[in-house]
Formats: sequence, structure tokens, C-alpha cells
Amino acid sequence: MTAARLLALTVALVCSGGVQALENGLARTPPMGWLAWERFRCNTDCVNDPHNCISETLFMQMADILVSQGYRELGYNLVSLDDCWLARDRDSRGRLQADAHRFPSGIPALSDYMHKRGLKFGIYEDYGNFTCAGYPGILGHLQKDAETFAEWGVDYVKLDGCYSHPTDMDRGYPEFGYFLNKTGRPMVYSCSWPFYQIYSRMKPNYSAIINTCNLWRNFDDIQDSWESVQRIIDYYGDNQDEIVPNAGPGHWNDPDMLIIGNFGLSYEQSKSQMAMWAIFAAPLLMSVDLRTIRPEYKAILQNQAVIAVNQDPLGIQGKRIYKDKGIEIWARPISPISQGHYSYAIAFLNRRTDGTPSEVSVTLRELGLAFPGGYAITDLFDGVQYGTVLPDKRFKVDVNPSGVVLVRCEVVKTTGFGSDVRAPVNPAQPQSAFRNPFNNQLFNPFG
Ligand code: GLA
Repeated sequence: MTAARLLALTVALVCSGGVQALENGLARTPPMGWLAWERFRCNTDCVNDPHNCISETLFMQMADILVSQGYRELGYNLVSLDDCWLARDRDSRGRLQADAHRFPSGIPALSDYMHKRGLKFGIYEDYGNFTCAGYPGILGHLQKDAETFAEWGVDYVKLDGCYSHPTDMDRGYPEFGYFLNKTGRPMVYSCSWPFYQIYSRMKPNYSAIINTCNLWRNFDDIQDSWESVQRIIDYYGDNQDEIVPNAGPGHWNDPDMLIIGNFGLSYEQSKSQMAMWAIFAAPLLMSVDLRTIRPEYKAILQNQAVIAVNQDPLGIQGKRIYKDKGIEIWARPISPISQGHYSYAIAFLNRRTDGTPSEVSVTLRELGLAFPGGYAITDLFDGVQYGTVLPDKRFKVDVNPSGVVLVRCEVVKTTGFGSDVRAPVNPAQPQSAFRNPFNNQLFNPFG
């Protein structure tokens, strides 16, 4: 093992909510790429549905599009298998093998295909006797499977937890992580460990999880609906005090795949998912048919300003700071920092269904943004610039039903009022006050 590799594997105390975290040098910002599961599931019928079945062709086509249509340059550099790539049995030497009909060139060739195009290659397995879809799991073969993945040039391993005991996971996930590290090949380690434990009413040991995994799922699988996206948003908001401090460079909460461009989300809802995943510092793993995605959905996935929030180098996950009558405000501290004050991304999310945009009016101070020089505010979806807004200047946004307004508020060193800041308005909504967790002050965004 090289000195650099040894260094990279050193477990260091990092300043992230006071937790000790795995520092394998990987996933310094949330991983980005394409993952098969949500859109393509376990379709193994390549005879009747060759275009959509889980086969090497599908992954090669997605890789080609990531490269040719600009996704890779924006950071989407991972192509990952999910369940149902395996043959039903191990080979004669006890090694995992891909289904020979659907992956005739074999996994090493597929991995090479990705690397030749400047992409990373991800694989899926399960810490149990079987994967969730019933293919061979890694239990009893941990070291051999980690070595196989390293030989195959795998860059990212998603390790699921079906057909295993959640109580065994506190030992099993670190053990497999140890074997991954021991191979000497850097592999991002994606875990489902807390999810299965929470589901079994256990309390996950997040300090151990952070020490082991680069990302982890803590909630249900995303489905192709706005309802599913909202359930995830609620979970993250309702449990933020426990889960937000665990995120940071190298270790991320994973709210599951982006479903933008599929069947279930409207245009507004798609922007909401993208904005919220940016606030969450979430992995951006698209699960969509990139061959047929409509241009307006592709534009959401390719919005550089929103991606920049998601990938902010400070790696601080955002929090819900207001929730009432279907309106939520979420805030994520981002760079640059000036004189001890963070910049922020602020998402105004409208969960109402009353058919007309809701007006939300706030001062930055109410949101906890008190830099005396003010903030340069930009709307990240429509590009509107509000100019420099001082902490006590009231500004308003109109948020479409099931939509979002995402603004970037950057600390500026000069003072002055932006000329295009709109005047305060009289709110139609009933008054209500709320305490902001970032500064513990009461505020009321409707007035
Ligand atoms: C679990 C995971 C999903 C997917 C499926 C595959 O449900 O949470 O993301 O990997 O298994 O069977």
C-alpha cells in the first residue's frame, strides 16, 4: 500500500458537528451520477423488452449520454448498477458473476467502458444472504467480494440490507468497509444500514455509520410520485436535529434518487425535488431514461447554479426553519463566508394545493442572515437578481403550488439597497410566528 493510500485511509477527527468521520478521501462533495433502480427496476426480460431491461447495453447507453449531452461536465460522473445484474449463482470459484445473457461482455469490460469515458463505475450488493430481489448476497463472502470488486475496477459500492438481521449490521457494514479499504482501491461506500435499523425500531449508531460509510440511506425507497418526495422531505425536516449534523465532506445522508423526468412529477414538483436535494447536500443520482427525457426536465437536472449549491464545498446540510399552512422555508449555510457570516441557499417551498401562487415575505434577519453588509440575492431557477439586500429589508417571493423558489444569498462586503427589491406587501394568509433554529428568533413570513 502506498503512503498516499495509507494517508487517505487514516481516520481523522474532523470538525463536522463534533463527530468522528471516515476520511477515505472520497465523496468530498455529494456523489453525482446515474442509478438504474427507480426507473428500470428489476426488468430482466431482454427477450421481449431489450430496450429497457437491465443489461450492459442500458448502462453503456446511459454512459454515452452522460458524456455527449454535457451531464458529465456538470459533475454527473457515476454510472451504477442496482439490483438484478447478478447471475442466480456464484461461479465455480465462489465468485460473484453477472447474468451472462444480459451482460455478455462481463463486468470488467463494462467498468472499462466507463473509465475510458472519464466516468466512474458503481455496483450493487447486499449485506445478507440475498439481494432484495433475491440474487446472491455477500454474507459469508465479504473479503472475496470486496476483492472481486477491486479487481473489476469498481469505484462505488451500494450495499443494501435485505435478508440480514439489522442487529448484525453494526458489525457487518464496518467489516465489509474494512475489506473494501484493505483492497487499496478507493471505492465510495454507500450503506443502507441506518434505514433497516430504523425500520426495525433500533436507534442507529450514527457515529459508527459516519466512520464507515460515505453515504447512507435513512428512509424508504423513493417512488415515482410527489407524495413520495414529500414524505422524504418531511422525514428530513422532522428528524433534522438527529440527522443533519451527520452530513459533511466524505459522509452524506442519502434521501434516495432523483426522479425528475419520469412519469410522476410535474415541472414545478421536479424543481422542488432538485432544490430540496440541493438543500439536503444529497447525492444527485438520477434515475431516469436519459434517452427520452424532455428538455425542460433535463434543464432542471443540468441547472448549474442549483448543482453548485448541492456541491458547496463546506458540505453543511440545510434545515427547515419554518413550516406552517403548507409553506416551508429551508436554509443551507454555504460559501463564501465573510467575517464569520455564512452565505445561504434559501428554499421557499409551497406544499399548498389551492391553485394560485403564495406570496411569502421575509427579512433576511428573520431567516438568521444578519451580515451587516447585506447579501447579493439570486433566484437560481429564473436567474432574477435582487441586488444587495440588507438584513432588515423586507423582500417577497411568489411560490407556485407544489413548487419552490430557491435563492442564493451571498455575503457582500459593500452596503446598499438593491433597487429592484420589491416593497413589502400585506399578506392574505393568517399570521403566525415561528422560531428560527439558526438564531432562535421568532419571525413571521406572512407579514
Ligand atoms: C432496496 C433499495 C433500493 C433498491 C432495491 C433493489 O429496496 O432500498 O434502492 O436498491 O432494494 O432491490
